[in-house]
Amino acid sequence: MSITTGDFRQKVTVHTLADKKHKHEPIVCLTAYDYATARLADEAGVELILVGDSLAQVVLGYDSTLPVTVEEMLHHSRAVRRAVRQALLVVDMPFGSYHTGLNAALEYATRFVKEGGAEAVKIEGGVSRVELIRAMLDAEIPVVGHIGLTPQSVHRMGGYKVQGKTVEAMDSLLRDAAALDAAGVSALVLEGIPREVAARITSEVATPTIGIGAGPECDGQILVFHDLAGLTFHPAAKFVRRYCNAGEQISTAITSYRDDVRRREFPSDAESYHLPREVQAGVLNELSKRKIGG
Ligand code: KIV
Repeated sequence: MSITTGDFRQKVTVHTLADKKHKHEPIVCLTAYDYATARLADEAGVELILVGDSLAQVVLGYDSTLPVTVEEMLHHSRAVRRAVRQALLVVDMPFGSYHTGLNAALEYATRFVKEGGAEAVKIEGGVSRVELIRAMLDAEIPVVGHIGLTPQSVHRMGGYKVQGKTVEAMDSLLRDAAALDAAGVSALVLEGIPREVAARITSEVATPTIGIGAGPECDGQILVFHDLAGLTFHPAAKFVRRYCNAGEQISTAITSYRDDVRRREFPSDAESYHLPREVQAGVLNELSKRKIGG
């Protein structure tokens, strides 16, 4: 039996991703953090929507993903959940929520499913996460892996640097990919790694790979919504393609609104409510006699 949404489009599940890899059909993924953008992404046919912990930077204004909390992730997941009908909804487990022990990690992952409506959770890391991934799968929680440039490891990596550029680093990435593939992740995000290494991983593993700064051979691609829309305040990374400049358009709109208010050109009479014609004279007469509070 296949599950369909109210508008009869097919619901994307973790199995759809595997199916698309099998058929060599690219998987379209995008982050979203609120109802409006999640709804637009879902209606455009994006197959996987990620409530990414990039929320910390692009929505909450932190300078890394490290400070964002489970409660903040849940708050935004619930908003996205209310919008998403067709796409697979994946939620990032934030830094600290799966690093202190299996039980705590399972409890938080369960909350993302029960309270945030997640259909899978994403965790960063390779070989060292295998035990946790197995425990999550035992608890019926699908997992998306994430290797390469893993932003939660910014301090260990010594900055946001492309990974896998030496033979040793490449071997370590291949080991991570193989371990997560064998552990049964539903998809594997490859971030900030050379195209050639990502292509090799993609052809070697059964898991669908989702690239971000990892070249075109990955089974799918993901972008941060604010990067795609031009809603960021820093120079874009090399791999970002800006599809519009919403920041500039919104800024122009706000400036026009500011000027209209200052010139008393907003609101116009047509944008104002009026008394009904039949009571107008009487109400205006009474109004002229009233004093506020008197
Ligand atoms: O948090 C995020 O937006 C991500 C994507 C970049 C994959 O993890």
